[in-house]
Amino acid sequence: MTAEGAGGGPGAGPSPDRVTVWDAPVRLVHWAIAALVAFSWWSAKSDHLAWHRLSGYTILGLLVFRLIWGVIGSETARFSSFLAGPRTVLAYLGGRAAPRVGHNPLGGWSVVVLFTLLAIQVGLGLFSVDEDAIEAGPLDRFVSFNTGRAITHWHHLVFNLLLVFIGLHLVAIAVYAARRRDLVSPMLSGRAILPPGATAPRRAGLAPFVVAATLALAAAWWIAHGLKLS
Ligand code: HEM
Ligand code: HEM
Repeated sequence: MTAEGAGGGPGAGPSPDRVTVWDAPVRLVHWAIAALVAFSWWSAKSDHLAWHRLSGYTILGLLVFRLIWGVIGSETARFSSFLAGPRTVLAYLGGRAAPRVGHNPLGGWSVVVLFTLLAIQVGLGLFSVDEDAIEAGPLDRFVSFNTGRAITHWHHLVFNLLLVFIGLHLVAIAVYAARRRDLVSPMLSGRAILPPGATAPRRAGLAPFVVAATLALAAAWWIAHGLKLS
């Protein structure tokens, strides 16, 4: 999606060494998920389970979108661009990695952990049921009450694990900030200065965005309706 201008054009505003690192879909998904995780926690704690489910379905749609965007989206969004093997991760830790934009080789794996935990959390929520069987996820009819309660127990446990990794995520960002590397501004504005020797990442067009958004909406709607066809 070419959400922002081409960047660096004559009179277009941004100086030529600033490029779009994170496109609008990546940023929107990120900040929406961050807000919805907080909202999911609040809505469950305050017994607003209808809101809680809606928040979960929205996270589900965003995750499906991000998964597809990770294959057909902009260069820095693609898993193939930021998932590196152990040798590259070690080279990065040893300060021997080539300059680049996007997730660094270690950060790429923390992204996978965060998205996977979120997907597990939503997946467990779909089968969860409260102790008096009044509130439940849309797929709880596929499991017995006792299994549903066991899954709910895991829904609680995985939430705590998610909190640990969100905490580590924030600590990592604070460590970079302390070393004068601001990662937050690019996640807000999309733009960052291109390191010497690195090339500007390629941005996806509108067609892959429409494909990913349509599939994500359809998947979230279908799952939220208990996998029923009507
Ligand atoms: C519930 C809370 C949060 C979750 C689950 C979360 C998760 C994630 C995920 C999955 C990514 C990868 C984005 C992608 O490739 O699409 C990411 C990146 C990022 N997040 Fe968060 N995040 C949360 C909160 C925050 C907060 C509060 C901040 C800022 C203070 C923040 C700053 C960033 C930054 C700067 C990046 C880009 C890191 C890089 O340059 O590689 N996140 N986050
Ligand atoms: C479609 C997705 C989801 C569904 C259908 C769902 C469903 C439920 C249900 C039925 C409960 C009540 C269980 C009980 O009585 O203890 C619950 C609790 C809870 N959910 Fe979800 N959930 C979903 C997604 C999420 C997400 C994304 C988060 C957070 C990231 C989350 C966090 C929690 C927490 C923390 C509780 C326990 C609250 C407490 O301690 O009382 N859920 N969920």
